[in-house]
Amino acid sequence: MRASHLEDFYTFLRFPSVSTDDAYSENLNECAHWLIEKLTSVGLTAELVPTPGHPIVWARNKHQKGRRTVLIYGHYDVQPADPLELWDSPPFDPVLKDGYVFARGSTDNKGQILSHILGVQEAIEQKSDLPVNLHFVIEGEEEIGSANLENFLHQHREKLGCDVVVVSDTGMVARGVPTLSYGLRGVAALELKVIGAKIDLHSGIFGGAVANAATVLARLLATLHDNKRHVAIGGFYDQVAPLQDWEREMWKKLPVNSDEQILEASHAPALVGEEGYSTLERIWARPTAEINGLGGGYQGQGTKTVIPSQAMAKLTFRLVPNQNGDEIVDLAKKHLQKNMPAGATLQMTSGHSGTWYLTDPNSKFVKAAERALKKVFDRDVALIREGGSIPIVSDFRNILGVETLLLGLALPDCRAHSPNENFPLENLDAGIRMNQAVLQELAA
Ligand code: BES
Ligand code: MN
Repeated sequence: MRASHLEDFYTFLRFPSVSTDDAYSENLNECAHWLIEKLTSVGLTAELVPTPGHPIVWARNKHQKGRRTVLIYGHYDVQPADPLELWDSPPFDPVLKDGYVFARGSTDNKGQILSHILGVQEAIEQKSDLPVNLHFVIEGEEEIGSANLENFLHQHREKLGCDVVVVSDTGMVARGVPTLSYGLRGVAALELKVIGAKIDLHSGIFGGAVANAATVLARLLATLHDNKRHVAIGGFYDQVAPLQDWEREMWKKLPVNSDEQILEASHAPALVGEEGYSTLERIWARPTAEINGLGGGYQGQGTKTVIPSQAMAKLTFRLVPNQNGDEIVDLAKKHLQKNMPAGATLQMTSGHSGTWYLTDPNSKFVKAAERALKKVFDRDVALIREGGSIPIVSDFRNILGVETLLLGLALPDCRAHSPNENFPLENLDAGIRMNQAVLQELAA
């Protein structure tokens, strides 16, 4: 690994580009400016595109008629680093340990998108040009639903015309096993607030006589699943396309991803999920309802005898083909309103929503990517779906009319969104070679 590549990686990681929290806006801005400088120094034309949220970084080489055009997408924003006390080293102060770089965003998505930038840098250094017309689109709002990127695609639809999109923001089934995802789950967010009395009350003076907002919320949230862990919202599964036999067979033959390996990577005491489905099917092909955050009442040291006036929960639903996010959120709202216990009121606010994605694993572009991956990793390619979401991918199809190749470099224990997120330099290097091989194969 070149020292300058490592330096670039560290510099990129030192920006605390947490998109969900306004306190970091300036850091996102600075991170985007650094990318512009980096892409320009590589020999590309780069521009910063402002949005009502965080800016988009857009770069391209000199396009020539008659060549394939490839759009490489990634994101420079990251998830919040909390809980900070669980990190072994500060999240925005990268450290190298046993070949792995630890920092928030190292895998998701800075290491992965940087490997493409460095791949392009090396190719231009060696051959003074690329085999294809290239766009880089690197946004700062992926982790909050890509709300402003859709508009960017609409506005620049003509200029962004391309044959295929390449994204490295998904996983590898195991170290050294090249992995192409032909599917992603969608996601839709909903925030709940239960309001009881106007103020917190003495639980001795009023306890037993008024509704407790936290109790109400707990009872309400418990109605989301039945005792077989199916989602209990009426109509939730109506549009779900069942897993196909060929997919089930293909997944059985994957060299890895046994329940033991998934259990190990999860650091959970046991695997549990919807009854009647395998673990991979639950993650890759079944929808879920998750509570991502929950609050209310006294959280400080010791005890406080109080009836909380308010309680809140942040929910997201993972969606699969052919569910519609707006419909699912509507069904959820109806279900929650119907099941609301007496004595309090419920406020519901829908948040971001992104569509699932499913592409043909036998398309000519997938085949080209498979050849490239096989060359670089010297192993057969695992074809999988992913449980995670990249909201803009369905818009590349709907707005630009092109399919996306999801070439993941994240390892099962990368700890994306968790403390001690890490990325192996081995994959930064593999990503550089993958970028060059993929552009070569796509050019042909
Ligand atoms: N890199 C992930 C998507 C991902 C995760 C793909 C796991 C494959 C496996 C991406 O950055 C991400 O986390 N997206 C969010 C989107 C959401 C906040 C709108 C997600 O999936 O939670
Ligand atoms: Mn990501």
